[in-house]
Amino acid sequence: MSPAPHRPDPHRFDAARIDGIAQSDIRLQSRKCAEVGGVNLGQGICDQPTPDVVKAAAKAAIDDDQSIYTKYEGIDALRVAIAGKMADYNGLPCDPDSEVLVTAGSTGGFVAATLSFIDPGDEVILFSPFYGYHFNVLRMAQPVIKSVTLRGDDFAFDPDELAAAFSDKTKAIVINTPGNPSGKVFTRDELALIADLCVRHDALAITDEIYEYILYDGHEHVSLATLPGMRERTITLSGFSKTYNMTGWRLGYAVAPEPLTRRMGVIADLLYICAPSPLQHGVLAAFDLPPAYYSQLLADYDRKRALTMAACDAVGLRSLRPQGSYYLMVDVRGAGFASDREAADALLERCGVAAVPGSSFYIDPADGATQLRICFAKQDHDLERACEGLRRLGAVRS
Ligand SMILES: Cc1ncc(COP(=O)(O)O)c(C=O)c1O
Repeated sequence: MSPAPHRPDPHRFDAARIDGIAQSDIRLQSRKCAEVGGVNLGQGICDQPTPDVVKAAAKAAIDDDQSIYTKYEGIDALRVAIAGKMADYNGLPCDPDSEVLVTAGSTGGFVAATLSFIDPGDEVILFSPFYGYHFNVLRMAQPVIKSVTLRGDDFAFDPDELAAAFSDKTKAIVINTPGNPSGKVFTRDELALIADLCVRHDALAITDEIYEYILYDGHEHVSLATLPGMRERTITLSGFSKTYNMTGWRLGYAVAPEPLTRRMGVIADLLYICAPSPLQHGVLAAFDLPPAYYSQLLADYDRKRALTMAACDAVGLRSLRPQGSYYLMVDVRGAGFASDREAADALLERCGVAAVPGSSFYIDPADGATQLRICFAKQDHDLERACEGLRRLGAVRS
């Protein structure tokens, strides 16, 4: 008898730094959803159209052969436009030449920041529920991740718990406001507490403000870097994906003091050289959009939020009212489910709706075991179909 064929371990080449990092539940749910022809409220992709003027400007830039690498920090005109927006919208004037870095999506900025400033063994504080990319990108740099859990209807943190998470090894804290998946908008007072701890522990703050224009019920967006003592220790990340419906264009930016943007720029250059050149020219047109564009964006998301919350509430999926961004966290217990996974499976099988199990957003999965994340950044007809599906959940149960 011939010996059993040798089956080498398929993971024998894996770097230790990526141990345990796998495709997220979000992708898995999306695949299952496609199999059953359902509506995908799992993945955070907004499928609204990109503004026509921006598309036209990008087409013109392609025709004009704006096709070569740009400086790693991005084209001058775009950095000037971003600095103008930072001054006007965020109250954070900055130097376009030395303090703005155009990145391949805000994700490019987050990866560059992580690789530039986080060493193995450094402590990094991350609020849970977190955005999965923050958690997994950080893990590639092998820090000790200390989680502070946001709890209750307004996803508040316990100031003592946060203070206890800081130590003399704390290198950085990651903040996401408005938040994915929580929809939380950090208040000025909460940010002041965080700022005070950062200053006391000489820690860096990385703040992801990609949803900064999507705010409900009068909530105010505050950039952490504008608080006393924070400008010199904060990397503010944002981008164009969510505000202008262009997630696939891969355009974002980081704003930080010069020594930080310079380090990050060198790393971003090594990772991908520059953000897509013709699209950098194209997105310039977004800065000329009138205020009505932003109020319409908000009105649309507010309506979608109300529609989705009503459908969820009707079947006992009590929603934690989002203050910003375009996600809804719901508690599954009121609809008779024991766990997030049971609820996610049932929603897909019975209602044709994909959602993401809450446990995937927490360091301790138990914290999210009764929650689901639902994304409502969908075209109206898809969202209406999803909401009809959700209402069937009530009919099936009764
Ligand atoms: C909190 C958060 N940050 C960043 C991103 C990705 O942004 P970008 O397309 O600019 O890389 C997302 C996308 O879902 C997000 O939810």
